[in-house]
Amino acid sequence: MKYGFIYDLDGVLVDTVDFHFDSWKKLANSLGFKIGDNIKESLKGISRMDSLDIVLAEGGYKADHEEKLKLAERKNQWYVANLQSADDSVILSGVMTFIARCKESHIPMSIGSASKNAQTIISKTSLKGEFTRIVGGNDVKNAKPDPEVFLLGAESLGLPPEQCIVFEDSLKGLEAAGRGGFKSVGIGKATNLPIADIVIENLENIHPKTIIELVT
Ligand code: BG6
Ligand code: MG
Repeated sequence: MKYGFIYDLDGVLVDTVDFHFDSWKKLANSLGFKIGDNIKESLKGISRMDSLDIVLAEGGYKADHEEKLKLAERKNQWYVANLQSADDSVILSGVMTFIARCKESHIPMSIGSASKNAQTIISKTSLKGEFTRIVGGNDVKNAKPDPEVFLLGAESLGLPPEQCIVFEDSLKGLEAAGRGGFKSVGIGKATNLPIADIVIENLENIHPKTIIELVT
């Protein structure tokens, strides 16, 4: 059976989690309250506007839709400024070797990210050109945990969901994978990712063929 891989981007292939979180912290500070590391995990994988709601709830800050759009834009400007310095140093350990092995093994690959900055990040690194399609936050109507982003990824690979394996570091992303009928690999700590088919700490020292054997 032929399998394709669909990768989430932030936290799976690139280390941008702190770039995002620092920008949310700055936004909270600018509104007169602080956010702590306790909400960091809950901000992973979800859209910018859904993240904003969590951040504002932390500070008990009420805003109407128009103000929320401005606040999200302010956070994004800080985030994009942080990204200016992004290069191959943001690629997580083991990723380039894993991708090279996928190519050797003829495993087709696409990206399924919640981020509207996915293209920008990838274009700044050696990940550029490695994927059949980069599906990001601008391409979908419904954010994770809706499976739309992964269904578009599967379509670009010409494979049904049951022949695609999703790599995710967030619970919302794994929920999306499950709802879409995909197999999933959690990246990170097993305790944070109880619904993944398997969990590995990162993509270091594991062969893509082993992943396929383990989840199918
Ligand atoms: C996800 C991140 O990949 O993208 C979230 O895990 C982030 O933390 C989301 O909020 C949206 O990103 P962006 O770049 O569109 O604000
Ligand atoms: Mg992620």
